[in-house]
Amino acid sequence: MARRKMIYEGKAKILYEGPDPDTIIQYFKDDATAFNAEKKATIAGKGVLNNRISSHLMTKFESIGIPTHFIRSINMREQLVRKVEIIPVELVVRNIAAGSLCKRLGLKEGTVLGRPLVEYFYKDDALGDPMISEDHIVNFGWADPYELEEMVSMAWRVNDYMNGMFAGLGLKLVDFKLEFGRIWGEHGELYIVLADEFSPDNCRLWDAETGEKLDKDRFRFDLGDLVEGYQYIAEKLGLIPPGGIMKGGNLNEKLAEGLGQIENELAEKRRLRDLKASKPRKS
Ligand SMILES: Nc1ncnc2c1ncn2[C@@H]1O[C@H](COP(=O)(O)OP(=O)(O)O)[C@@H](O)[C@H]1O
Ligand SMILES: [Mg+2]
Repeated sequence: MARRKMIYEGKAKILYEGPDPDTIIQYFKDDATAFNAEKKATIAGKGVLNNRISSHLMTKFESIGIPTHFIRSINMREQLVRKVEIIPVELVVRNIAAGSLCKRLGLKEGTVLGRPLVEYFYKDDALGDPMISEDHIVNFGWADPYELEEMVSMAWRVNDYMNGMFAGLGLKLVDFKLEFGRIWGEHGELYIVLADEFSPDNCRLWDAETGEKLDKDRFRFDLGDLVEGYQYIAEKLGLIPPGGIMKGGNLNEKLAEGLGQIENELAEKRRLRDLKASKPRKS
């Protein structure tokens, strides 16, 4: 493939310019970070699994009418997405208390919340992604009230859908983080779409029977092999063959190469149609 211009290197992904000005390529790295990048490692197979899981879930969201940035998967580590203007607010939805919520409020991990809880964090690594309120978001102009309403409504729909989907696979969706972006249509109308990724890097998934943690907490707290957890999730979703895609701690390249293409047939048909079918936020 021709040399591409890198736009940004983040903690887990690299962004490259896409074939059209309104697209970018997301490359999923094997790098893992935790605690605001104080803890770091490279874990073979992580990028491939996250790319596969996120493509699949974004396609699922599109199928229930939630617009996303996803266009199609390119290969085992890369996907083509619409370039968006990222809204600098991370939206976290929680069903069960874990992580920073327990720390902040002294809750016991595993407490089932009376209803899903939505929290906001300002996306700023230098500040350590501080927690913020709706009033901060509107006051500082990070999103307007209409955008915020749209983000929250999309987050609730994602939560309902994913809770059911994972419950059916014997997994508990404890919490997850979403990022959203703005896209302008040809007449200047504004659309809010789901961006970034949905993967075990950004959510908590527990085995419903054993309570085993299958997500990035394995890495954060040294609970076991990270890729084993991610593979378990991907296997449950039917995305990788039983036994996984690793061979003696290394990626089985041949197996992994075949993973990228499955969603594409659907994606081709859908391209741009869904965005136009969704409601513009403002014109
Ligand atoms: N469709 C998109 N268009 C533009 N930027 C995006 C899109 N999807 C995700 N991003 C941004 O790209 C970066 C992805 O890389 P990542 O490694 O997750 O970075 P970070 O270390 O900032 O979390 C994030 O900052 C995310 O907000
Ligand atoms: Mg990120």
